[in-house]
Amino acid sequence: MREDDVDEEEAHFINVITTFQKYGPYTLAGNNRRRKDLYALPLRDQELLASLGYKEKLAKTDEAILANAEFLKKIVASPGIFGDEGDDAEDGENNGDDGDGQRRTNPHTHSHDSQTHLHGRSSQTHSHDTQNIRREHAHAHSREHTHSHRGHGHGHEGGHEHEHRSPRGKYKPSEFDMDKLRSTLKQFVRDWSEEGLEEREASYKPLKDALVAHFRDIPAEQRHNFRVLVPGAGLGRLAYDVAKLGFSCQGNEFSHYMLLSSFFILNRTQEAYEHTIYPYVHSFSNVPNKQAMLRPIKFPDVRPSDLPPNANFSLVAGDFEEIYGTDEEKDPGDPSAGQFDAILTCFFIDTAKNIVNYLRVIHKILVPGGVWINIGPLLWHFENNTSNETSIELDLEEVKELARKIGFEIKDERTIDTTYVNNKEGMLGYIYHAAFWTATKQI
Ligand SMILES: C[S@@+](CC[C@H](N)C(=O)[O-])C[C@H]1O[C@@H](n2cnc3c(N)ncnc32)[C@H](O)[C@@H]1O
Repeated sequence: MREDDVDEEEAHFINVITTFQKYGPYTLAGNNRRRKDLYALPLRDQELLASLGYKEKLAKTDEAILANAEFLKKIVASPGIFGDEGDDAEDGENNGDDGDGQRRTNPHTHSHDSQTHLHGRSSQTHSHDTQNIRREHAHAHSREHTHSHRGHGHGHEGGHEHEHRSPRGKYKPSEFDMDKLRSTLKQFVRDWSEEGLEEREASYKPLKDALVAHFRDIPAEQRHNFRVLVPGAGLGRLAYDVAKLGFSCQGNEFSHYMLLSSFFILNRTQEAYEHTIYPYVHSFSNVPNKQAMLRPIKFPDVRPSDLPPNANFSLVAGDFEEIYGTDEEKDPGDPSAGQFDAILTCFFIDTAKNIVNYLRVIHKILVPGGVWINIGPLLWHFENNTSNETSIELDLEEVKELARKIGFEIKDERTIDTTYVNNKEGMLGYIYHAAFWTATKQI
């Protein structure tokens, strides 16, 4: 990575942290707009609306936003994944400083016995207490994608070229940044709550079942000898579940929003149901009743440290193509080095600018006979992007044909209907007719 890119990446990371910190005032201001509009109405109308409990609803929404803000601040209070990065972000609101000038310590050791690690892209060590990765390793990509209102991901959103500073030089998060943060809150529901179970069962279970079926001849206690990769791991639940099955599992993710959040849940959370958020308070549209909008979600539904004693689980931060597609020889100690016995892609392949390269990389890093199991739609993330990024947009038949030409044999093709970060109690929901397949690398 060039030095300029590293600087840009660092600046972006600090801006993401600032977005977490500014969520509270930004979101409260949005709710205040509703209050202002209410008070601008004729008194008669105000009274009528007051009798419906509208004012109380606004007050409860404020409370929920404040609770979300507290949670989000915790995530960035010690973003240890990138060492001391971000320390010089915002004036005193930032990690390392509680706002009272007191520096908090940045814990470097595991607070529990989880074997989860977050690795930088060229991290050399897999040691148990490697919680912090150095900033030069943390090449999480600038081009974040959000996951909600156009479904599981938008088209390309222009990365941080829209990032802008206020007159005093502080970063002023945009609506675009906040949208990503709101999506991250919903992603916690998908991955780590009981409410998300049905959605996870629809997508993650077929992947895990197919993985177990592929290795059916391997006794469970030998599974740790098999390496599974989950690119675009999001908040890490699928990768965690695969590690829980006994496989050696590596997640890969490039979004700072996801990386900070998954680190927090995996390495800074001690108990089941320790956290409470209100992920549905950001829009008053398509809401059937107050409860549907204001209901709390408690999570995680499992203790993140409950992994088998010999579980091998890591997350590698950075761009999938850059990390796994490189022809450079890697240090054998680099966790991303070598080949994998299985690759699970869940709502991931359509994040490609060039699907040909994604499939080539998947093929290259699989062992001969290795298995690639996929589920997801084809919502090409870079379609209609405004910054001249390449975007190759194949239909499903073309993707499968391409996969065959690259050297896969595709079996067990199915369509699975599923949602993605869906508000179960909302009046609007998307159903994806997601494509599922199991593909083996031909020798
Ligand atoms: C639609 S989400 C799916 C997340 C997760 N697999 C799930 O099913 O909940 C796609 C994820 O891939 C990540 N991603 C997109 N392009 C990537 C890339 N080139 N390298 C690594 N991660 C990427 C995004 O940040 C996002 O978290």
